Amino acid sequence: MGDYPQLEKVKEECAACKACELHKTRTKSVFSAGVPNSKIMLIGEAPGFNEDQQGEPFVGRAGQLLDKIFESVGLSRQKDVYICNTIKCRPPDNRDPLPEEKAACRRFLDAQLEILKPQIILLCGRVAVNSMMETKLGITKIRGQWFKGDFSWGEPQMMPIFHPSYLLRNQSREKGSPKWLMWQDIKEIKRAVDAL
Ligand code: URA
Repeated sequence: MGDYPQLEKVKEECAACKACELHKTRTKSVFSAGVPNSKIMLIGEAPGFNEDQQGEPFVGRAGQLLDKIFESVGLSRQKDVYICNTIKCRPPDNRDPLPEEKAACRRFLDAQLEILKPQIILLCGRVAVNSMMETKLGITKIRGQWFKGDFSWGEPQMMPIFHPSYLLRNQSREKGSPKWLMWQDIKEIKRAVDAL
């Protein structure tokens, strides 16, 4: 993160944060992985067990699948993507983040967005969608569609996508299955990246 001293400062604040109860049970706060200077930002839900242990997002089974999905179109977290979560500390037993936890943590995500100004934002799963978009529609209805973000710093393209944990629970690759739909979505994402 050498080229982004502001972001480094926010990461340090995040590591010391005690704004919600989750700091009491965390091993490490989980700020980001991947490349800050990247066109794509992926926003997931919250750290799980492995992420809490290692201090890096998407390193467990879901993360390995996420890496494979990116690699299937020639993208990688080492080169092309900045990865973070809606909240930075693991909720006990991987429960959904509480509204007060999301509110307390929001400034970190807002800072990541404002400093990095990604051109493409992938909203990975229901929790990320609900944090970033005002919609009552479920992820199955809106995944794969582009929405225009409306931020003080710009109007990035935003796409809801399935969470890889959901894909791990739905193994079929048949036409119309969640995995097949994700394959369509990642191809569309690659097309959009190449068009930037
Ligand atoms: N699931 C998420 O949403 N984020 C992670 O970092 C790991 C699993």
